[in-house]
Amino acid sequence: MSDLFSKFDPLIRQREDLLATGLTDPFNLVMEKVESPTVAICNGKRTILLGTYNYMGMTFDADVVAAGKQALDDFGSGTTGSRVLNGTYGGHKACEQALKDFYAMDHAMVFSTGYQANLGIISTIAGKDDYIVLDIDSHASIYDGCALGNAQIVPFRHNDIEALEKRLKRIPDGAGKLVVLEGVYSMLGDIAPLKEMVAVSKANGAMVLVDEAHSMGFIGEHGRGVAEAQGVIDDVDFIIGTFSKSVGTVGGFCVSNHPKFEILRLVCRPYVFTASLPPSVVATAATSIRKLMDSADKRAHLWENSKRLHAGLRQLGFTLGTDEPQSAIIAVIMPDLEKGAAMWEALLNEGLYVNLARPPATPAGMTLLRCSLCALHTEEQVGEILGMFAAAGRATGCIS
Ligand SMILES: Cc1ncc(COP(=O)(O)O)c(C=O)c1O
Repeated sequence: MSDLFSKFDPLIRQREDLLATGLTDPFNLVMEKVESPTVAICNGKRTILLGTYNYMGMTFDADVVAAGKQALDDFGSGTTGSRVLNGTYGGHKACEQALKDFYAMDHAMVFSTGYQANLGIISTIAGKDDYIVLDIDSHASIYDGCALGNAQIVPFRHNDIEALEKRLKRIPDGAGKLVVLEGVYSMLGDIAPLKEMVAVSKANGAMVLVDEAHSMGFIGEHGRGVAEAQGVIDDVDFIIGTFSKSVGTVGGFCVSNHPKFEILRLVCRPYVFTASLPPSVVATAATSIRKLMDSADKRAHLWENSKRLHAGLRQLGFTLGTDEPQSAIIAVIMPDLEKGAAMWEALLNEGLYVNLARPPATPAGMTLLRCSLCALHTEEQVGEILGMFAAAGRATGCIS
């Protein structure tokens, strides 16, 4: 019998080698207590959270928590059913209405996760004979959506407008074309040139889907994302998003103005063949989304935090993923996995949690310490964070 696990041997060895050095497992940390969107207890120690994508700090918002508790009391702990059977409650409809209002769009469909939203929408609208042109650095859920639908995948170089145009022009006349982009790319925290890319896509007869997972709530005047900030939201056919970042809970969605959009509820397998979100989750999501409409002050403070951290890290001598802060993600580039893991642990010992990201999730084989800021980080906390980066960076030899 062949062991189907033998393909994992190189990864198992790499992990064992890393842990044999006495390092804390960076992918197995337990949050023992979460005190607020910015502070938790890890290994018995107060730890500032800088790697949770909780951009707008909604997880402890009093109205959001109250809405969840009320729904739990009124509707129970779960729906035990698909949206197309017994799993659509008033709360799911209210959540979809909140999304339609937030984006000023005609249709909204809520999925159980953002991963499933990409999986479902992409695989349902682009099939075997269609072409999906996508940025090579696209999120795993986008690739998996392409694979599930069995479409022809045409990747292009990250954020390269000309490469996108060339790929589009090579697609046979009359074929179905979907261009898939992200507003913010989560590894380096850089944004897409959506204005140009959407124009090129439309000029070549393609539909456009933009995943705004990391920009919703924060980027754009109303927090609708990079497509809003760059003035092209009306030309985007589908926006995908998640509740697991700015919204502060779990779930995913697609919004659109396409007149035939509602048919997707009957044909989209990751929507039909799975249980719907619990009533408490959709209640928290709807409350959070409505509050995000009116959060200009928090958006402004988050930009300040992002600028302050970016400038401070650069001044300390770290190499960053972008020359200027473009989002609430700041990626610190590490020389290799060993140094990255050592720095990650040194930061944790200082009392700071960031994400360690490594290939294959990262572009160009990079090891990254990904920092995601929150609108509720205070100026003092950003100062503390920089102090911890300075100490850990010197202790590990990442900076001099
Ligand atoms: C760009 C992007 N799309 C989709 C997702 C999936 O979101 P969810 O956590 O809701 O499954 C993520 C989450 O990491 C993401 O970064």
